[in-house]
Amino acid sequence: MSQPSQPPILQARGLTKSFGGFRAVNDISLDLGTSEILGVIGPNGAGKSTLFNLLAGAVPIDAGSVHLAGVNLTHARPEARIKSGMGRTFQIPRPFPRMTVLENVMTSAQGQRGESLLSALIAPRQVAAQERANANRARDILDFVSLSHLEDQPASVLSGGQRKLLELARVMMADPRLILLDEPAAGVNPALLDLIIDRILAINRLGIAVLLIEHNMEMIARLCPRVIVMAAGKALAEGAPAEVTRRADVIDVYLEGMPA
Ligand SMILES: Nc1ncnc2c1ncn2[C@@H]1O[C@H](COP(=O)(O)OP(=O)(O)O)[C@@H](O)[C@H]1O
Ligand SMILES: [Mg+2]
Repeated sequence: MSQPSQPPILQARGLTKSFGGFRAVNDISLDLGTSEILGVIGPNGAGKSTLFNLLAGAVPIDAGSVHLAGVNLTHARPEARIKSGMGRTFQIPRPFPRMTVLENVMTSAQGQRGESLLSALIAPRQVAAQERANANRARDILDFVSLSHLEDQPASVLSGGQRKLLELARVMMADPRLILLDEPAAGVNPALLDLIIDRILAINRLGIAVLLIEHNMEMIARLCPRVIVMAAGKALAEGAPAEVTRRADVIDVYLEGMPA
């Protein structure tokens, strides 16, 4: 396993997960630098999304460990990981369809006092002030992802690419130090692809580390100095995208997944 050139924000060791008798993720370790963008590529079924689910705490691990900025999150609940600075987006975005775009972003704010009935009764003015502050922050983030003009629309009207941008906005609202992006280019028309790439770079320039699952090799090449290739639950190769994608064993696992 090669190391990032910076101190790691994320350290995963020996992550393993079986479903029934099937090992979806088999002994994966990785170090992600504090402001690195690391790609995860590999054919369908390789275990990439399951790896994200293990890192995010969405499914319990069988073995291994996860540390974020030195804090052991191996058995932490998903909400605790988000509070610690780990954000994630989903391969299939799941906005609340009837809420507005702005409301969807606001639901990701952390530590909302208004959520507790008691604090709403004791300190209604502070709760209202916090709501306003959250709305302003959500508007700034919508501006950042170029969705401001849609803030009052229900999320159901958004195109595939706009849903991906909304996912980016929701993850940014939680003030992450690291974001896990699962196929942000999937289902995105070419006109929005450049914008999404540009926004991921802008997020990274804020000092936020990015772990990126993606099939779109243009996006990988433009964003990731380093990638890990997963196949059948294992890390098959690691290195610069142009180098690993020339390797015969990497080409083979992609061809195996293709219809004959
Ligand atoms: N919750 C689950 N229950 C059973 N099998 C699963 C579950 N999640 C994923 N798998 C299986 O694990 C393997 C890896 O899936 P996944 O992590 O989604 O791969 P990728 O994201 O690389 O396409 C697949 O064979 C998939 O069917
Ligand atoms: Mg997947």
